[in-house]
Amino acid sequence: MLQKILVVDDAELNRELLHDVLAEEYLVDTAEDGAQALEKLDADARNTAALLLDLNMPRMDGFAVLEEMGRRGWLPKIPVLIISGEYSPDVETRCFQLGVSDFIHKPFESSIVKNRVKNSITLFAYKRHLEQTVEEQAEALKKQKQIIQIQAEQLKASESFNRLMMEYEAAIMEMETRLKVLNTEFSQAYKRNPFESIKSRLKSISSIYEKLGRRGLPITVESIQENLADVAGLRVICSFPDDIYRLAELITMQDDITLVREKDYIKNPKPNGYRSLHLILEVPIFLSREKKQMKVEVQFRTIAMDFWASLEHKLKYKRDVAHATEISRQLKACADSIETLDYQMQQIRDQIYQNREIPF
Ligand code: GTP
Ligand code: MG
Repeated sequence: MLQKILVVDDAELNRELLHDVLAEEYLVDTAEDGAQALEKLDADARNTAALLLDLNMPRMDGFAVLEEMGRRGWLPKIPVLIISGEYSPDVETRCFQLGVSDFIHKPFESSIVKNRVKNSITLFAYKRHLEQTVEEQAEALKKQKQIIQIQAEQLKASESFNRLMMEYEAAIMEMETRLKVLNTEFSQAYKRNPFESIKSRLKSISSIYEKLGRRGLPITVESIQENLADVAGLRVICSFPDDIYRLAELITMQDDITLVREKDYIKNPKPNGYRSLHLILEVPIFLSREKKQMKVEVQFRTIAMDFWASLEHKLKYKRDVAHATEISRQLKACADSIETLDYQMQQIRDQIYQNREIPF
């Protein structure tokens, strides 16, 4: 089907000339002045591929048409080419400011008119296609976000999700108890504690669905169990680096605990200076009708490493920190000093105990 073009000119001769130039490739409609042009656009703006507009016309001139088209939101949709006998740069500039696509001077050359009309239509179609694609993508993203939100809401309300969270809580209790038992045994037998304190947390629902969503994974009870190893999290804060490894060994050795994954950021610190030992362990929990293996993430670090990590965490999650690069550099230097300090303290302890009485 031919595309429609509206030619607006008060001179009949010009309308006829332009009609003849364009009729081979387009369906050409004409209007005698601005008011008539607006009436025709009003009836069929959607199907108008371009507007050829004269400036000087009785009743309503070209500028008034442009202004009205701007008000009605048509200018971003329909390319307007001015065909005028005006040679003043001011007039031309004003037209472009109002949003025209092109300016053709009278008397016109028919092949130039044809080409420039064609160019304007092609450019507009391309622009519209791009805009549409962006719009579609934005819409798709919005929908995806809504789906995640709905899934999360459903999950929150579902019994199986609440049960799973209860199981993770049980796993935290189980693991915490086992670590505390070791601590109690050592403090009674040898008057020293392998760890100073222990912290635990259950991952929040918003963190759960943010993490699954970010990885493009489904937000279901099965997916949480399969893909997340840190829903149940424990942080064990020790005095000395070797306590960390002894404690990790003792807990991993327990015959019903399985080591799923180990990340040793003490032997291989992160580039930012982060040091901790991370174990993903599977521990059984005993429920009324079943025994279930649950994953727990246990992070071991020294008091000094923990002090460092909480400050560094603040930098990571606080936006618009001034001098962030310089702060990172200072933090890295502190992390290295902490390592030296931790081992120095350990050596002093060894001297105090003369390498004899250190129980484990
Ligand atoms: P996450 O998606 O962050 O859980 O990473 P991951 O699953 O690859 O595990 P990883 O063992 O690297 O990190 C687990 C957790 O350790 C994080 O969630 C943090 O609590 C902590 N952690 C890891 N790296 C850093 C770090 O550079 N700085 C601080 N402050 N904490 C860290
Ligand atoms: Mg994690």
